[in-house]
Amino acid sequence: MDKNLIVFGNAQSMKEIGDESVHLVVTSPPYFNAPFDYPDMFESYEEFLGIMRNVSREIMRVLKWGRVAALVVDDTLIKGKKYPVVADITKIFVEEGFRYRERIVWVKPEGYIRISRRSGVLLQNPYPMYYYPDNLQESILIFQKGEFDYKSIPEDIREASRIDLEEYQKNKWYLNVWYITNVLPTHNRLERGIAAFPEEIPYRLIKLFSYKGETVLDPFMGSGTTLKVAVELGRKAIGYEIDLELLDVIRKKLNIGQNSLLGNSNEFEIIVREDAKRLRSKLQEKVKQIKRVKKG
Ligand SMILES: C[S@@+](CC[C@H](N)C(=O)[O-])C[C@H]1O[C@@H](n2cnc3c(N)ncnc32)[C@H](O)[C@@H]1O
Repeated sequence: MDKNLIVFGNAQSMKEIGDESVHLVVTSPPYFNAPFDYPDMFESYEEFLGIMRNVSREIMRVLKWGRVAALVVDDTLIKGKKYPVVADITKIFVEEGFRYRERIVWVKPEGYIRISRRSGVLLQNPYPMYYYPDNLQESILIFQKGEFDYKSIPEDIREASRIDLEEYQKNKWYLNVWYITNVLPTHNRLERGIAAFPEEIPYRLIKLFSYKGETVLDPFMGSGTTLKVAVELGRKAIGYEIDLELLDVIRKKLNIGQNSLLGNSNEFEIIVREDAKRLRSKLQEKVKQIKRVKKG
């Protein structure tokens, strides 16, 4: 892969990428029908898991031997029922041949505004059986395709990719609990309605699991956070996104087609496939309806 690439289309087929040509996958799949992000996006939980299985097969195909796929996921709560997304995705990836290496818990600050404060139920009814805790965490699942050959990396690339130990120690990367502030829901943020993760997550994963000049893939790119950080860290980037309505947000975030006289335009090839869809406006309309019903 020489160029950065963005494909608008369904990541169940990543036919634009050759076998064994990606060094790292960093992604966050859509949160299954989450009421504030993707209401009724999937017809059933089984349909959602089927899509995850197809994408995991494509990831297995395009990843180089020994390399890692990192997925930011969480169980989804819909009408009082939790769907075990973390466990089911782990099972799917293991069944498709990956080694389950690690689960890192991403903890958000306590003042996190987007959570539904279910814990209030117990304040109203301070008795047993009224316990519903507020959710401040997500999981970062790390899967590996076979064993990595540490000797395969030339000495100069290894040195150029050296991890800054001061940063590693100071920000406690060595723990399997990462305290990272989420993207704050400010009114005019670029990522409105996208459920974007903060740059710090791909920043750590790309530094920890890829070398300079290598290729990083995000099959569910959303606003393009993974691709932005990958390019900033001297990696090549590939992203898939089904929703063509995100084109402008992605262009802005990745500085594509901006003033190249200033030398700050990033080079990306953009392919729009026939299976791309237009989703955001409809999803956002549904989210508004849900919020109105909750208030009313
Ligand atoms: C949780 S968001 C990713 C957000 C991203 N990490 C960011 O920081 O902006 C998941 C994205 O996957 C997209 N998506 C859902 N199903 C897809 C599919 N089958 N193929 C490609 N993209 C898909 C959604 O439109 C959504 O933008």
